[in-house]
Formats: sequence, structure tokens, C-alpha cells
Amino acid sequence: MELQDKNVFVTGSTRGIGLAIAKAFAQEGANIVLNGRKEISEELIAEIKNFGVNCIGVSGDISDFSSAKQMIEQAQEQLGDIHVLVNNAGMNNDKLLLRMKEEDFESVIKVNLTGTFNMTQPLLKKMMKQKQGVIINMASVSGLMGNMGQANYAASKAGVVGFTKTVAKEAASRGITCNAIAPGFISTDMTAALSDKVKTQINETIPLQHLGNPEDVAQTAIFLAQNPYITGQVISVDGGLTI
Ligand code: NAI
Repeated sequence: MELQDKNVFVTGSTRGIGLAIAKAFAQEGANIVLNGRKEISEELIAEIKNFGVNCIGVSGDISDFSSAKQMIEQAQEQLGDIHVLVNNAGMNNDKLLLRMKEEDFESVIKVNLTGTFNMTQPLLKKMMKQKQGVIINMASVSGLMGNMGQANYAASKAGVVGFTKTVAKEAASRGITCNAIAPGFISTDMTAALSDKVKTQINETIPLQHLGNPEDVAQTAIFLAQNPYITGQVISVDGGLTI
């Protein structure tokens, strides 16, 4: 898809990977809908507008279906049709399964997996009528390989992979693509909590020997949005971790 003047909704775009994705699309001339649970700051909106594009902030919780639907309607009222949806918002709450409470499991599934459904389902109806659209979901290598302490997170991201492939099949006849990106370890607030010792241990397991940057993931989102013949795929951006 040619991205100039297209409208792109990036969930969880107040920081980290989501913000890098929003900036990368803005650089391509696309208008941006920023989203996070809290109100989006005017400074952040101005930063995106500096790319010479339109930008609005739509705050709300993606894990709540009616809130997700409302956010999409609000974005459509202000910008018009949404052409690209990036389901990036996500959270983790790591602990070994034996210590994991029901609430620890459910809360992560509700944001990462149900949140992806909540945003995609109402927007897909519109995209099917438009006969165009791009959906990009944020999975994780944890969803492909499993990871100690992440039974909830890995299950949610494996769910995102299955969801992605199914949406790709159901929407393909209308020219809509749906793909997932599976980042490895990327330097953001999510990984900042790791100690230097753990980071060194992680680097030893990564063939390219360092954590990735949010921009590495953002570039991949642009590539997927621009390519009309890739759908139902999971692209790992992981420094070779899953080789
Ligand atoms: P982050 O924690 O820095 O940012 C997450 C963003 O999502 C924030 O803007 C936050 O406000 C938003 N968010 C969280 N829950 C939300 C909700 N219920 N409703 C609306 N917004 C919500 O995270 P980071 O590292 O930028 O990760 C982005 C995505 O990439 C997530 O889906 C994460 O699981 C995935 N990922 C990250 C990796 C990493 O190493 N950082 C590795 C693999 C996947």
C-alpha cells in the first residue's frame, strides 16, 4: 500500500515500539492515530505533526470491547477511513507458572490477545467494505518458542499468531493483508526492568549479540504495510534468536 496520506492507527503508541512505528509511518507521509491508556500529551502529537502529517490522540483501554469500538469510531470521525491498524499495545506480568494466579494469567491474555480481537473485529468490517486494509499484529518470540516465567505472555502471543493467520485467510478475498511481527529482545521500558546481568546472559543467546531497537521493528511494519503480496506471515525481528 502506498502510505502517503493514509490513516494509520497504532495501539500502545505513547512509547517504545509503538511510538517508533508511529514515527516511521509519519515519515512515509501517513496520518497517525496515537493511543495509550492515559491521555495522549500535546507534545507527543506535535512531535508526530512535525513530520508534516495529521495526528490525533485517542486514549482508552484496548482490553475493553466497547472502549476499543469507541476509539475506532472516534478516529474515523476525526480522520476518515482507517487504512492500517497496528495492534502493538501489550503488557507482561512474568512469574513461574506455579506462582501464577488466575488473575495474572487472565489480565495478560485480556490485553494482548482479547485486545487484538477487540480492535480488529470492528475495524475489519469497515476494511472489508473499503476493499483495502493492512493489519499488523505484535506477537513475540515467546509465543513461538515459549519462555520461562511467561506462560501467560507466551500463550497470549501464540494466540496472536493463530488469530493473524485466520484473519489473513478470512480477509484475503478483499485484498486485505494481516501479518504478525515477532520481536526478540528490544530495548524499551518492557526490557529496561531486566538487570545488567540478565541482559548479558540474554546477549549471549542472541546470534547478533545485542538487543534490538524499536526502529528495527518499525522498519518491518513499514515493509509489511507496503507489500500487498505478503499475508498470514510471522516475521521474527530477533537478531537470530529463533534460528
Ligand atoms: P511498552 O511497555 O514500552 O509500551 C506498551 C504500550 O502499550 C504503551 O504505550 C502502553 O500505554 C500501551 N498499553 C498497554 N496496555 C494497554 C491497554 N490495555 N490499552 C491501550 N494501551 C495499552 O512495550 P514495548 O516494549 O514497546 O512493546 C510493544 C509490543 O511489542 C507489545 O505488544 C509487546 O508485547 C511486544 N514485544 C516487545 C518486546 C520487547 O523486547 N520490548 C519483545 C517482543 C514483543
